[in-house]
Amino acid sequence: MSERKSIKVKHEEILRQQQFINELRTLLSEDETKYKKYYIVTWGCQMNEHDSENLTGMFDLMGLTPGENEEDADIIIYNTCAVRENAELKVYGNLSHLKKIKKIKEHLVIAVCGCMMQQSHIVDEIKKKYPHVSLVFGTHNLYKFPELLTNFLSSNQGTLIDVWDIDGRIVEGLPTYRKKEVKSFVNIMYGCNNFCSYCIVPYTRGRERSREPKDIVTEVESLVKDGVKEITLLGQNVNSYGNTFEQSYTFADLLKTLNDVDGIKRIRFMTSHPKDISDDVIDAIANLPKVCESIHLPVQAGSTRVLKAMNRNYTKEDYLSLIKKIKSKIKDVALTTDIMVGFPGESEEDFLDTLDLINEVRYDSAFMFIYSVRKGTVAENMENHIEESVKKERFHRLLEKTNEIAREINASYKDKVVEVLVEGKSKKDPNILTGRTRQNKLVNFKGDESLIGDIINIKVTDPKSFSLNGIVL
Ligand code: 5AD
Ligand code: SF4
Repeated sequence: MSERKSIKVKHEEILRQQQFINELRTLLSEDETKYKKYYIVTWGCQMNEHDSENLTGMFDLMGLTPGENEEDADIIIYNTCAVRENAELKVYGNLSHLKKIKKIKEHLVIAVCGCMMQQSHIVDEIKKKYPHVSLVFGTHNLYKFPELLTNFLSSNQGTLIDVWDIDGRIVEGLPTYRKKEVKSFVNIMYGCNNFCSYCIVPYTRGRERSREPKDIVTEVESLVKDGVKEITLLGQNVNSYGNTFEQSYTFADLLKTLNDVDGIKRIRFMTSHPKDISDDVIDAIANLPKVCESIHLPVQAGSTRVLKAMNRNYTKEDYLSLIKKIKSKIKDVALTTDIMVGFPGESEEDFLDTLDLINEVRYDSAFMFIYSVRKGTVAENMENHIEESVKKERFHRLLEKTNEIAREINASYKDKVVEVLVEGKSKKDPNILTGRTRQNKLVNFKGDESLIGDIINIKVTDPKSFSLNGIVL
């Protein structure tokens, strides 16, 4: 059952950081002209978004306010992502730009944190080429930001680097800032034990560990008080939730517990690993009224040979029979996925297997990626890396296929009545409201803003490729 107990950061340590925040509040307000505004840029996944909400909560308690952009800020944080090369290149580009700002604004504090910093070759690069960076910290010690900032300000020279190479802990009770919205993300676990051969996450986020159910329930109850109606439970592999507990308590158990929390209307979750999704979870989706009929089930590739090289632990046939079971047990289920092209050694035949799988599953939508080498992963040293032009050509064929299917699925909604949780006003047109169906389809319609937070029936009049237009019934 449990390989190792998860380690919670002690409450005293969180209180100690609170003390640093209090001291910073006094220190930073002493010089009125200097430290007033912060600016955080977040790359990557919801985990990073969540970490940035914690950093925002800390700044808020320090008495700083959000700046409009980098030029406007006195303290800048880049919360970085390491999953693909693109995001890394953007960070380097932005850091070069900050050099100019730092020249004009000497007191500017530049901090970089997140997954990129968990890799020593990246930290070396920052030391070498970006000496104007003030602070470097990682994913495991983000809760110590107040202390690190204090230490940097008191020495104010060179780059202060503090990155921990540990398995990871669980931090509860940090300050946080959440926008007042109808829906919210809730982390239920951290890290990953799967070591898919292309992926850097197990190296940057550490081993898998689950938050205790009571902490999750407390957070959800407080979200309800703030007006949240829908939660999305987050983890790299939610189906192994609870594996680090002494007692048996599974992800299906957690879904049941949360289904009973008053005030929550809808529950979603991501990501599920196909090798781990249990019948109990499939039954929970089918039977629990608040758990929505929408599953994100990354397939990555359709060729069994490639899946093996990726260390995914399922075959094309395993995946397809899982999909068959899901479709037969869960009425009107929507399926989404992550797919990658250009994994080392992927032949045209392997790629055709991916297209074939897509044709069979018929995803409602897919996140598609071109494989990019990640230093330190097993795939880095595999043979037959694929040429860029071939990767791009496959990517376009993949995109065309998935979009065609998504369009066809959306078209089948014409004249149907769907249940929509109204989320807010459309960003493009304030006269239009938007919301989502249980299948997570985006719906646009005219309506009064008093409907925000309600579940209403909408008749779909005009399905588009990536959304549905409709009228309130
Ligand atoms: N190259 C491209 N895509 C990747 N992903 C993870 N690692 C890589 C990589 N090295 C994709 C996978 C994963 C998603 C979050 O990012 O599809 O599911
Ligand atoms: Fe990466 Fe695989 Fe873990 Fe997902 S399951 S985070 S792809 S190693």
